[in-house]
Amino acid sequence: MIQVWDRLIRLLHWTLVGAIAITWLSTMDLGIGWAHERAGYVAAAVVSIRLMWGWVGRRYARFAQFVRRPSMVLAYCRQMWHHREPRHIGHNPLGGWMVVTLLAGVAGTAFTGWLQTTDRYWGSEPLEIIHTWMAWGLLGLIALHLIGIMFTSLRHRENLVHAMITGRKAAPHGDDVA
Ligand code: HEM
Ligand code: HEM
Repeated sequence: MIQVWDRLIRLLHWTLVGAIAITWLSTMDLGIGWAHERAGYVAAAVVSIRLMWGWVGRRYARFAQFVRRPSMVLAYCRQMWHHREPRHIGHNPLGGWMVVTLLAGVAGTAFTGWLQTTDRYWGSEPLEIIHTWMAWGLLGLIALHLIGIMFTSLRHRENLVHAMITGRKAAPHGDDVA
């Protein structure tokens, strides 16, 4: 086994999951409406720290390690189509872009939420609509994220969720991309 996801990555990931869950739960009639903005700010803070860690963090945390050129993403999709895609120790090329999209989705949703608290956009209906649509879009991305994780876990017979909890994955072997 090797260590892939460092402590900070895991802490940020599960904090983000909790924060996004609270932003949604707080829009329901549960009496926790007060938590909406705070949880949204926590999510925004997670994204900011993750962005910094993407430049200065350890190998598998770095954007340069997992954000691949479109041609490489296409090549990976073709391999998937033929059931020949290699196992990646870090994020695979499709997963890498999903990470970037998820982070952007969280940032955009939090930003449009915050804008509604400013003097200029206080009570702005268009902004409320944009914010709500972004939140739904984010939910769609999260669904795709989970489908991708289930698919990859089954394809390579390894529990990726467990890896995001412990940080550890089986050492690379064969054609694996380390
Ligand atoms: C609010 C919902 C979620 C968001 C916004 C989210 C976001 C992310 C992000 C940004 C990463 C990249 C990690 C990094 O490099 O820092 C990631 C990875 C991952 N997430 Fe999530 N996540 C969410 C929910 C979940 C849930 C519910 C699970 C599991 C049940 C999960 C399992 C994973 C796994 C296994 C990885 C690693 C993927 C890989 O092996 O390449 N995520 N997620
Ligand atoms: C990034 C995470 C966030 C998510 C997923 C999210 C999600 C949502 C959703 C789904 C709604 C619609 C509620 C409804 O129609 O009943 C909403 C409304 C709203 N959100 Fe957020 N939000 C987030 C962050 C924030 C932040 C950071 C702020 C402010 C600092 C904020 C402020 C608001 C406001 C003012 C509304 C309108 C409330 C109303 O109906 O009067 N949100 N949000």
